[in-house]
Amino acid sequence: MNKIINIAVVGLGQVGNYLLNELNTKKKEIELKTGKKIKIVAVSARNINKKRQFKVDKKLFYKNPLDILKKHQVDILFEAIGQSDGVSKKIVETALKNGTHVVTPNKALISKHGNDLSKLAEKNNVNLEFEASVAGGIPVLRAIKEGLATNKISKVYGILNGTSNYILSEMENSNKNFPDVLKKAQQLGYAEPGNPKLDLNGFDAFAKVRILSALAFNSKISKHKCLMEGIEKIELKDIKIANQLDLRVKLLGISELKNNQLFETVHPCLVSKKSYIGNVNGVMNAVIIEGKPVGESVLQGEGAGPGPTSSALLSDLLSILRGNIKKPLGVSVSKLKSLKPYNVNNYVNSLYLRFEVKDKSGVLSQITNRLAKYKISIKRIIQTPDKKNDKATIVIISHKTSELNCNNCLSIFKNNKNILKTPTLIRLLG
Ligand code: HSE
Repeated sequence: MNKIINIAVVGLGQVGNYLLNELNTKKKEIELKTGKKIKIVAVSARNINKKRQFKVDKKLFYKNPLDILKKHQVDILFEAIGQSDGVSKKIVETALKNGTHVVTPNKALISKHGNDLSKLAEKNNVNLEFEASVAGGIPVLRAIKEGLATNKISKVYGILNGTSNYILSEMENSNKNFPDVLKKAQQLGYAEPGNPKLDLNGFDAFAKVRILSALAFNSKISKHKCLMEGIEKIELKDIKIANQLDLRVKLLGISELKNNQLFETVHPCLVSKKSYIGNVNGVMNAVIIEGKPVGESVLQGEGAGPGPTSSALLSDLLSILRGNIKKPLGVSVSKLKSLKPYNVNNYVNSLYLRFEVKDKSGVLSQITNRLAKYKISIKRIIQTPDKKNDKATIVIISHKTSELNCNNCLSIFKNNKNILKTPTLIRLLG
């Protein structure tokens, strides 16, 4: 590699803009640690005039990111646009084919096209680094690829979406409803660019689970349909009831090998307030890795926001500047396993079911009879009447039951006129 390293940054949203400032202000430190001088030769964004936290040198600006690669010899390209396809995919593919190293926080792109892009990087003898795509500032991918390299990992799980964790914690702390708290999360730059839905429906955490699985189990990034639920249906009411039960709602991503089959899920969980995971609050992420011989490793840190994300992007940069060409997925794509999916119907959990009902005789027994029919055994019932409106909230905690029963027990209540809305279901962990 030349002594002066030409760098381009495409995408100047909150992350790209923060990264640019870090690159500009940390040139000396980068040289001290790697012996390499970096030079930013080009940047690109849709709108040059947008108000940004840090000023952008207009002389470096390109509207079309693909023009950058035509006009400059770029050694390392940062992609911070954030699409799973479109221009993000195009610029990354073009760069890799050109022999340009790529660094990206784009989990949508890597979880969807990571196998092919890694193959392309290998073929062209360049790095494709995506530490920032999972758990923001926590160096978890590097920990799996390097620090835990020879462990046999059986499970990786944790809190992988900072926006959701922030929203759940803020609702509990401030007693505010979901939409108000979401607005604040967006202002803080936690939510995915342009589309907070991806944070709230579990997609963002799921993309991270897929990337973690590949690295943890030496397998191809999976494409199976999986159980994916976000926090959209969680109401302040659920958070308050959980609190009374000494529980907390957390959105967990879980990837596990069960009988050598891959089980990947994302869904809200009720966890004990006394547990470790129950105390990871705010924008914090936590990843727990179970492996042999290491045992259980826990990594915790800020999982979203321009600062933590840039921290991971710069660690990728330094990794490239320091050394050898690495396989993006730890081993060559041609040697990765294709794991079969575990049957989600066999997933077993206790359930929290919240029913909003008309307060009249026979309603509770209608619910319990239906549950009994599906062999869902009740562990606990809490009923809170709303006298003024002749309504009541009934919360049932079940004994452990399979996912198949769990699906059935939701659909069986659909046509009951005494049940005023679709029940809220949250699985209990453990
Ligand atoms: N939007 C993501 C989150 C941050 O809230 O965790 C980047 O991964």
